[in-house]
Amino acid sequence: MALRNIVKFGDERLRKKCREVTEFNDKLWVMLDDMYETMKASDGVGLAAPQIGILRRVVVIDVGEGVIELINPVITSMHGKQREVEGCLSSPNQWGYVKRPAKVKVTAFNRYGKEFKIEGTELLARALCHEIDHLNGVLFTDLADEMVQPEEVEEKRNKK
Ligand code: CO
Repeated sequence: MALRNIVKFGDERLRKKCREVTEFNDKLWVMLDDMYETMKASDGVGLAAPQIGILRRVVVIDVGEGVIELINPVITSMHGKQREVEGCLSSPNQWGYVKRPAKVKVTAFNRYGKEFKIEGTELLARALCHEIDHLNGVLFTDLADEMVQPEEVEEKRNKK
């Protein structure tokens, strides 16, 4: 495994619509392993492929319950609302309140090309929405209704 450089806000690769994965091969697996290692090294809870400069629909998430790998993820339903402070590994010192659904259901493929469904609430719902937004070139700062000064953010940060 290897650490990849994280693409920062302002880089136009973060504004592209990513393409679907069609081949579930060892190249994809290396990328997934690298994404996980890179996310963990930065103390993040989620990372999307465009954040390492690869314009494919691939996401890794770990909200503290183990790694979730999502290939070609699609949100199939959303319920309720939550509003919390959000950040992004591509913009380490920016924080803001973003409204998200309280609960989401997502269909995706695993690294072997097998389809699965996942349901998320609270932080997982937020992470799923934030990372899938990345695959469509949408950043949390597009959606934030109030930015927060870094020193106001409590120690327990959730970087995505
Ligand atoms: Co992000």
